[in-house]
Amino acid sequence: MKALVLCAGKGTRLRPVTHSTPKHLIPVANRTILSYVLQQIADAGIRDVAIVISPDSGGRIREAVGDGTQWGLVVSYVVQEVAGGLAHAVKMSRDFLADSDFLMFLGDNLIEGGVAPLIEEFRSRGPHGLVLLKAVADPRRFGVAELDEHGCVVRLVEKPREPKSNLALVGAYVFTPDVHDAIDRIGPSWRGELEITDAIQQLLDMGRVVVSHELEGWWLDTGTMEDILEANRVLLESGMSGQPSGTVRGIAVGQSGVESDVTMSDCELIAPVSVASGCALENCRIGPHASLGAGVHVTGASVSNTIVMQAAHIEGSIALRDSIVGARCRVSGHCPGVGWGLFLGDDSVVELAQDGVA
Ligand code: G1P
Repeated sequence: MKALVLCAGKGTRLRPVTHSTPKHLIPVANRTILSYVLQQIADAGIRDVAIVISPDSGGRIREAVGDGTQWGLVVSYVVQEVAGGLAHAVKMSRDFLADSDFLMFLGDNLIEGGVAPLIEEFRSRGPHGLVLLKAVADPRRFGVAELDEHGCVVRLVEKPREPKSNLALVGAYVFTPDVHDAIDRIGPSWRGELEITDAIQQLLDMGRVVVSHELEGWWLDTGTMEDILEANRVLLESGMSGQPSGTVRGIAVGQSGVESDVTMSDCELIAPVSVASGCALENCRIGPHASLGAGVHVTGASVSNTIVMQAAHIEGSIALRDSIVGARCRVSGHCPGVGWGLFLGDDSVVELAQDGVA
């Protein structure tokens, strides 16, 4: 079994952050989204992985992942020159996939419990394809499956206006090489892409068997700022981010996720938090659900439900909540009693002021 990780999406809904950081490398509880995905692939016992990257952001992903030894993987790369869709990405990866069965995992999807259960089910049931499904409140944003009474998929529709079920396709699939024939037979969808959903429908039309596995745990599809903040909360709560528990100086409330070289004076930490190496915290209140990247400085401020990326500085009597602050940003101000929700790309400089106060 091989794995194909798709990371060529542009992340337009996460601009301005994605102007400089591909969305798969956005830190959530101080680890990149992609690192959780790669860890889950390694945990499922797969070694051979290809990551599909775009010409724009692929360089950053190559730099971050390298040859995959950090996860015990052997990683190679496939460049998808055009944004041609998920099935197009599979088509571009034919040389790597050869005639192997493979797991296809979208590099921005986080799932509880990893991918080992799907692979086990695929091996024990022996279908041509397996899809992972999750019951969701608004299935119109996703591919949607209709099942028969045995849990076999009978129909799939990409982003239907009138969904026939509440079962969304999660971004993890397992295929035999039969999927390649199916992909060769489909054409572009209304959004101009070769959809994997259409390819799976084609597999069904060809008389192949596609089974489903329903995910009981959480699923985080990290397409928007709200999704990223939710992922940060869930991963901080779950402990899956493997935060170190160093010595905490200052006042820490509840469990800690603070690196041992963090300096703190007169500050309050409200768990769960993740504070990376080299942070300096003074006279501030951090948490709950705050993740501070390496070398972040916070002086005088309060930060909750927020991701602050590396080397950013936040200074003054300001309260940041529900925010994403890019790397090396400078945020300052004096606005007691006002909460700010910011979404800042790397290197932004912001001075917050209240009329008549600053
Ligand atoms: C893709 C798939 C969709 C699936 C979703 C999961 O959508 O086409 O079927 O439900 O991923 O994240 P996209 O992210 O391309 O809109």
